Amino acid sequence: MDDKKLIFSAIQPTGTFTLGNYIGAVRNWAPLQDKYDCIYCIADMHAITVKQEPAKLRQNSLAAYALLMACGMDPKRSILFIQSHAPTHALLNWVLCCNTQFGELSRMTQFKDKSQRHPDDVNAGLFTYPSLMAADILAYNADMVPVGVDQKQHLELARNIAQRFNQRYGDFFTLPEPLILEVGAKVMSLQDPTKKMSKSDENPNACVLILDDKDTIIRKFKRAVTDSEAEVVFREGKDGINNLMTIYSSVTGKDFAAIEAEFAGKGYGDFKLAVGEAVADHLEPVRTEFDRLIADKAYLKECYTTGAEQAMKISSRIVSKVYHKVGFVDPR
Ligand code: TYM
Repeated sequence: MDDKKLIFSAIQPTGTFTLGNYIGAVRNWAPLQDKYDCIYCIADMHAITVKQEPAKLRQNSLAAYALLMACGMDPKRSILFIQSHAPTHALLNWVLCCNTQFGELSRMTQFKDKSQRHPDDVNAGLFTYPSLMAADILAYNADMVPVGVDQKQHLELARNIAQRFNQRYGDFFTLPEPLILEVGAKVMSLQDPTKKMSKSDENPNACVLILDDKDTIIRKFKRAVTDSEAEVVFREGKDGINNLMTIYSSVTGKDFAAIEAEFAGKGYGDFKLAVGEAVADHLEPVRTEFDRLIADKAYLKECYTTGAEQAMKISSRIVSKVYHKVGFVDPR
């Protein structure tokens, strides 16, 4: 790695990526490869903070890895790996946990949401999840972390943990900056546009998956909940239309004024169909590339094995320094 700034981000392999993951995060990761050194990871260790079926998790992790590549992540230019292949994250996590306060973790909205959704399994991993996420980032001393809005609070905590460590043990960690889009950082549910689009939504029509076929995508958009007006304009209170305009803008590159002009005098039906078609056409090459990659398990394996070696090379050096700083005896 050279003097370029370092980018780190990760995604959980809990099923296929949603259109929210894609627009708010993954889609923006590929262009960053032109300017920065990039490390992208499939966060399978984070995924087991909620119950997973082992065979399905393995399958989802491989699919997520292939999908990352299908979305433009290039294993020749960036480090692409699977989190559990780099045990350094867990090793650093322990030290970071000892520098994270119970109160800080208790305030995390994702912990509160998930513990409400899974009251029978409020495990310690779910609680300390943000500390592992901090370890993911700090194990590489990443400068910037591109994420959607929902991860902002976790990132602020990662900065606080890094700062606390630096104060206690001397300056060491870079304080990571969040990279959050102005438009598209929070794609909303198609069925309840006041809620984030999420794969855990019980209503399958609420969420578009990037591997959905064209008909399914169009059908989901046709059923999108909007309002009782008929004007395609971006305005406070029109959550459903604002969300569809955001999505349309993200996949076509048109700004809101151009979209309003395009649909002036037309109804919501025309607009929803146009959004569905634009999204499906935009995702078509991703689906084709995914199909090609997922059929080539040997190549995927070669890529993630190399990715893990590269990730371990950087992170083990950092973890050794951290272990020394906290006062552990050097093993050699
Ligand atoms: P995850 O897997 O939930 O989501 C991956 C990325 O997608 C973004 N995202 C969205 N953006 C816009 N609209 C939405 N509806 C939407 N839903 C999800 C998320 O903000 C995220 O950027 N904890 C992380 C994974 C992680 C991580 C990390 C991220 C593990 N370690 C280190 C950054 C750095 C998560 O669960 O993301």
